Amino acid sequence: MKLHGSMEINNDELYIGGVSCLKMVEEYKTPLYVFDEELIRKNCRDYRKYFKVDENKNRVAYAGKAFLPGYMCRLIKEENMCLDVVSGGELYTAYKSGFPMENIFFHGNNKTKEEVEMGVKYGVGKFVVDNFYELELLEDVCEKEDKIQEIYFRITPGIEAHTHEYIKTGQIDSKFGFALVNGDLYNAIEKLKNYSRVKLVGLHAHIGSQIFDEEPFLDEVDIMMKLVKEIKEKYNIELTDVDLGGGVGVYYTDEDKPKTIKEFCSAIIDRAEKTCSNLGIEVPKLIIEPGRSIIANAGSTLYTIGSIKDIKDVRVYVSVDGGMTDNIRPSLYHAGYECSIVNKMNKNVENEVTIAGKCCESGDILINNVSISEIESGDTLITTSTGAYGYSMASNYNKIQKPAVIAVKDGEITPVCRRQTYEDVISLEL
Ligand code: LLP
Repeated sequence: MKLHGSMEINNDELYIGGVSCLKMVEEYKTPLYVFDEELIRKNCRDYRKYFKVDENKNRVAYAGKAFLPGYMCRLIKEENMCLDVVSGGELYTAYKSGFPMENIFFHGNNKTKEEVEMGVKYGVGKFVVDNFYELELLEDVCEKEDKIQEIYFRITPGIEAHTHEYIKTGQIDSKFGFALVNGDLYNAIEKLKNYSRVKLVGLHAHIGSQIFDEEPFLDEVDIMMKLVKEIKEKYNIELTDVDLGGGVGVYYTDEDKPKTIKEFCSAIIDRAEKTCSNLGIEVPKLIIEPGRSIIANAGSTLYTIGSIKDIKDVRVYVSVDGGMTDNIRPSLYHAGYECSIVNKMNKNVENEVTIAGKCCESGDILINNVSISEIESGDTLITTSTGAYGYSMASNYNKIQKPAVIAVKDGEITPVCRRQTYEDVISLEL
């Protein structure tokens, strides 16, 4: 198992942020999500530095869909980052935690009237307008509220990136954005002539998530810069901002060979400068919206091992007290993870087992065929890199409670979310 961020081993025992994993479990029980605060902050700082936020006035907006409790809103604010939200719920979380609304990018392919009203009233910085329906809705709401709203148009640039089918979004056959090839983007720009409340200042595209290959991102940069020039020439609209969507892919298992944040950002910035110079235009303000690469490796999940079922010559099932309810990614995307026993870190890894969840579902398998040290019921298992899209996609299937979340740093624990109680689980029932 690869150690991330502040993870270290003392006397066979795993520590994160200077806190023993066994101590965390003693205090907070399992399953438990643990976040390495120092690593989250380092990732934010790397993005700001290498995406040239201070130097070039570019912006890095954390994609809240990856993990957005109030704790993250506050941390992101402290790190001088912007925030990308995709729903009224995420917007409300940011609002309640005092996040500056002007630093918010509001996404979504089907924002409801209520959400559009909320965004306009709160004063979000940019609406990323996805379609004709939203454009009209937004104009109406701004008219009623007597506001001018800056917007980007989300486009589908027609780039096929290599990632899981469910998490790729930039290809032409997509529910997101105005397509380029069928002229929808140009029709949307034409429509602006009838509107006085929405002001187009930029373009946005997102080609997909967990992408390792640089090329699709560089192609995206080229397409966007050419559009900026074309739109200026054709419509005399000066687009000052270009938002390139999500960040770089991350390490889950040794099959993944991700670029560093520095390599990824530098490649994008260099390409934008080169392409703009070839086109004879100024480099616009660039925006990037990383979620996974800020938070994935900073999060881990601790479980207690219960039943161990040894089917001779077939498989050993090791069941934990969580599963697809706290990490749906293996079942949904066949995502791979690494694991270890937190107090047997230096023991020989010689048993091959399958880590199963506790849901009433054969597909609730967290890790297939993984090598691990000798295990017993009652041991604490850690799965690493569960920080992105783990808690944010958690469910109450089988009426299992959502786990608690803590952050650790310099030997201290900060509680982030409490564990749900059974009362919480039935609290919506009338
Ligand atoms: N911006 C937009 C418009 C997006 O749709 C996304 C991710 C991001 C930014 C952040 O991308 P990232 O930096 O995290 O790659 N649930 C899936 C991931 C879905 C991603 C959806 N959009 C998973 O667990 O892999």
